[in-house]
Amino acid sequence: MSKLYKDPIGTAENAAKELRKITKKEKHDVALVMGSGWISAAEALGIPTHEFSVTDLPGFPAPTVSGHGGKVRSYNLNNSINALVFLGRTHFYEGLGMEPVVHAVRTAVKAGCRAIVLTNACGGINTDYKVGQPVIIKDHISLTAASPLIGADFVDLTDLYSKRLREIVKAEDSTLAEGVYVHWRGPAYETPAEIKMMRTLGADLVGMSTVPEAIAAHALGAEILAISLVTNAAAGVTGEKLNHAEVIAAGKAAADQMGKLLARILPKL
Ligand code: HPA
Repeated sequence: MSKLYKDPIGTAENAAKELRKITKKEKHDVALVMGSGWISAAEALGIPTHEFSVTDLPGFPAPTVSGHGGKVRSYNLNNSINALVFLGRTHFYEGLGMEPVVHAVRTAVKAGCRAIVLTNACGGINTDYKVGQPVIIKDHISLTAASPLIGADFVDLTDLYSKRLREIVKAEDSTLAEGVYVHWRGPAYETPAEIKMMRTLGADLVGMSTVPEAIAAHALGAEILAISLVTNAAAGVTGEKLNHAEVIAAGKAAADQMGKLLARILPKL
């Protein structure tokens, strides 16, 4: 474990302190983590007051995956709330351990955010889902058996994906589906047999992010909203092979619609 993460909460507090210095904002209210393909959706939020590299804050590794920006933006929405937006994230499959994966959300909570919105690209296990469709995560199954929490931190996950926040989103768009998301370590996609197993277990969506961030932020007291964008049918569903470029392209194609949805709901959370 890197020296920075011997005290991960202290490192997040330091990052929040630096964020206050850069943005001259005493507090941020909500944070948004933009996953694969979602980055251009941030354009719908208007003009940020600040944009800088994540590596300007302590504890953030340089981004590696294509389609991820590695930038942080600060917005003032409707002259009322300060929103912190991370363009891209660190994934567990990068092999850096759990601490860098959850550092952004811990920083956001330490900067004052009481609601965290997590977005991602995912494979659709549920055959009712179409490519380009956003789905609200209502619960998860972790198949990585890895937690961001260390020690006797027995956090309750019964309402991890806040019912209150999900109701706010559904009031904005009653057509949105809700589903159960599986966290898969990756970086290899699943096999068709694994997807069949996940469907048998009650899963609707599969992806390689979100779950550790949701747990870490909830453990610090934040409310979580998570929205997946179905970028492909999961392995074996159509017989087509999966590739990362198509995942990014499907995300870009839906970015406009996703951005409009986020711009409407963020001030209401
Ligand atoms: N599986 C896992 N992660 C993903 C997928 C998938 O099919 N699509 C986008 N991210």
